[in-house]
Amino acid sequence: MSNFMKSSVGKKLILSLSGLFLIVFLLVHLTANLFLLGGSESYNAATHFMDTNPIIQIMQPVLALGFLVHILWGIVIQIQNWKATPVKYNKVNRKNSSKWSSRNMIWLGLFIFGFLTIHLWNYFYIMKFQADTMLVSNEGIHDAYKLVSDLFTDANYGYIYTAVYLISFIALGLHLNHAFWSAFQTLGLSNNLWRKRLSIAGTLYAILIAVGFSIIPIFFLFI
Ligand code: HEM
Repeated sequence: MSNFMKSSVGKKLILSLSGLFLIVFLLVHLTANLFLLGGSESYNAATHFMDTNPIIQIMQPVLALGFLVHILWGIVIQIQNWKATPVKYNKVNRKNSSKWSSRNMIWLGLFIFGFLTIHLWNYFYIMKFQADTMLVSNEGIHDAYKLVSDLFTDANYGYIYTAVYLISFIALGLHLNHAFWSAFQTLGLSNNLWRKRLSIAGTLYAILIAVGFSIIPIFFLFI
């Protein structure tokens, strides 16, 4: 490993670049999912567009790689930090000088990873591998809207999934609130002037993502 990659900025570079990539993905994913609010025709048209768009299809394995690199590298860096800094010193000093979310990025990240596992099982797996048996509606079309709405409106476990998703969106918002400006800082784009601006932009972005995604299960709660 080169000296740069051994330095703390070098180590965080991969985390920042993969994180910024995921930040863009979340905006695209949120936009696609907000079509749910327009009803089944609008959402099914949006998913059909996504599923047949060659650029989206090429990006899917890149996205999987982005998540994998981000999660694994985050764990590696955290373990190295724990080894390098005595726990007591770390706890006392960081408590006084940093936000709760910045001190708990690893736990928030692992929580989001847990959510992602459930989420991919709920939707991605069925859409990709069981579409022909699970998704075909009475009219013979691939009804992705029904798949999403069934999860949140199911009489037995709809409320549980709604709660799990909403709690996960809060965790995601907290993770993003710190991650956004931290990524730019690692890339050297955060001087004194930009630090404040990026911190505000990060908070706005985190709120947009957490609230934007939360609207979906809440919407199904009321229709
Ligand atoms: C209520 C909110 C959400 C809904 C309704 C939703 C819905 C979906 C659906 C239907 C799919 C399958 C798409 C397809 O295969 O064509 C999917 C895939 C996926 N979702 Fe979500 N999602 C939500 C929130 C999230 C969040 C917060 C994340 C990230 C932390 C996320 C990450 C992913 C990933 C990585 C995939 C696989 C890649 C893809 O198909 O685009 N989703 N989601």
